[in-house]
Amino acid sequence: MTTDLSRRQILATAATTILASSPLWAHAADKTEAPRFELPALPWDAAALDPVISASTIAQHHGKHHAAYVNNLNRLLPTSTLIDADSLVEIVQRSARNEARRPIFNNAAQVWNHTFYWQSLRPKGGGTPPLELAKRIDADFGSLTALREATLTAATEQFGAGWVWLVLDKSQKKLAVVKTGNADTPLTQENLVPLATIDVWEHAYYLDYQSRRKDYAAAVFDKLLNWDFVAANLAKA
Ligand SMILES: [Fe+2]
Repeated sequence: MTTDLSRRQILATAATTILASSPLWAHAADKTEAPRFELPALPWDAAALDPVISASTIAQHHGKHHAAYVNNLNRLLPTSTLIDADSLVEIVQRSARNEARRPIFNNAAQVWNHTFYWQSLRPKGGGTPPLELAKRIDADFGSLTALREATLTAATEQFGAGWVWLVLDKSQKKLAVVKTGNADTPLTQENLVPLATIDVWEHAYYLDYQSRRKDYAAAVFDKLLNWDFVAANLAKA
């Protein structure tokens, strides 16, 4: 997973990595050398989510869109004061709500969001969550069906590009569904811990679903959502 730690920035690739808390890169000792992020490998084969999400969509989404965010970030960082950051999460958090750092924020957040999205999905996912998680969902939403409805409503109501998230709201001590626009991410909100996400940018679904975003979100929830990833993130929150 890591190569030449003294020279390269590392983006975690293991499907079980909890990105919110993991060091994603390592600096040379004096932090003078420009680090580089790498496009993380998908945690499954590009065709593994077919027919819910086609191999063509995954190839474009990962190989073009996600890769472009990584490349843009690597191009922007060397001239930024953020070059001393110790992780991708730190870059996202320090560039949030800062207009001068908006280009870095957009690309860094999109790198993180997409890596988290791939891990939120798995072949033959969806279905019934693990028992303890299912109990928590029942307690906080009323039922899995209610969580599903909240997710589809958020996906439908998000105006334009964005993301739908299952989060732990630490201030309320409850699970919640939130939506964010463009590159925005719960990482920048102190009380929210992301547990899973669905990308609702058009590039995530247009080849397979055209404008039927709700159908895409429903199919992801029902057939791809990685409940083990949710449970692992919740356990560490
Ligand atoms: Fe995307």
